[in-house]
Amino acid sequence: MSLIQLHDLVKTYETVNALNGLSLEVPKGCLYGLLGPNGAGKTTTLRILSTLLAPDSGEVFIAGLDALKDPRGVRQKIGFVAQEVAIDKILTGRELLQLQGDLYHLRPADRNCRIEDLVERLEMGSWIDRRSGTYSGGMRRRLDLATGLLHQPEILLLDEPTVGLDVESRATIWELLKELKSEKTTVLLSSHYLEEVEALADQIAIIDEGRVIAEGTTQKLKRQLGGDRVTLRVREFSNEIESEQVKKLLEKIDGVTKVVINRAQGFSLNLVVDDENVLSFVREQLNKAEYEIFALAQSRPSLDDVYLQATGRTLMDAELAVAGLRNKKLESKQAMK
Ligand SMILES: Nc1ncnc2c1ncn2[C@@H]1O[C@H](COP(=O)(O)OP(=O)(O)OP(=O)(O)O)[C@@H](O)[C@H]1O
Ligand SMILES: [Mg+2]
Repeated sequence: MSLIQLHDLVKTYETVNALNGLSLEVPKGCLYGLLGPNGAGKTTTLRILSTLLAPDSGEVFIAGLDALKDPRGVRQKIGFVAQEVAIDKILTGRELLQLQGDLYHLRPADRNCRIEDLVERLEMGSWIDRRSGTYSGGMRRRLDLATGLLHQPEILLLDEPTVGLDVESRATIWELLKELKSEKTTVLLSSHYLEEVEALADQIAIIDEGRVIAEGTTQKLKRQLGGDRVTLRVREFSNEIESEQVKKLLEKIDGVTKVVINRAQGFSLNLVVDDENVLSFVREQLNKAEYEIFALAQSRPSLDDVYLQATGRTLMDAELAVAGLRNKKLESKQAMK
């Protein structure tokens, strides 16, 4: 049974189309990863799921409830840990958790038991009785997670739970997520860390520009891609015609199953090959056509390859492009001052 069903979600903020027909289903007990670059629509999706935001159109069902008609019912079923959480810095972690427990009408004895359990599992130790304003980023995040889990929700929604954290906090959070998985809590987690999604998620959806571009288990997605990946860098092509010519040349080689021209950040050629012996032919053909190979890397298929296949750019390049855009906006704002 699918515990979360999103169908054809559309959300526009002024002029930005944040979601463009996003659909996905999360089975019960699954740890589901939403992977996508900055601005892909992950937070918007999670905010809609947590009933904090209404979509312009589309359907949202959570544990059989229509989230648009029964947001209150849905909120009892879910725990939501936002990307950035504002908390009262004067209160201690324990006081904040007690308040959260009261909000959910937990009996004080149950609430206190639950707090002890979470403090132990999240390795918060004596920090729980210190003011939250003194917490490190990692400790803050652990408190956020405890807050989301206090009422033992059936479904946990996490927006980038480990972004920017120290190694130890990340490990603690990963451990807790693995435990939740074995306890059959359904978890939907967004991340732009490939390795995080790969290490934790049973199933993933890759999101790009507000829609799902690939979906399934990591193994299935990688299997769809076939053999070894090879990335080659040659000199930049002067135009589209030239790049297409080189692509055709390489596609003709026996054992080369796929050629993608990666246009972001200069040019590189990404090939899928049946076996590594094919590489000597690739080298020979490129040399004949007077393309010197500057760099060559070979690897097993990764999630980044899945992304590249679907979008023509790597996840890293997509993030750099967004960062570049941000810097440009900043520069023009400063120039206007
Ligand atoms: N309140 C808002 N007003 C205007 N545009 C917004 C607003 N919130 C998000 N957007 C835009 O909607 C798009 C999707 O944003 P969203 O925050 O859902 O992406 P994301 O995948 O969570 O990105 P990140 O990895 O940076 O957190 C982006 O282009 C973003 O700039
Ligand atoms: Mg986000």
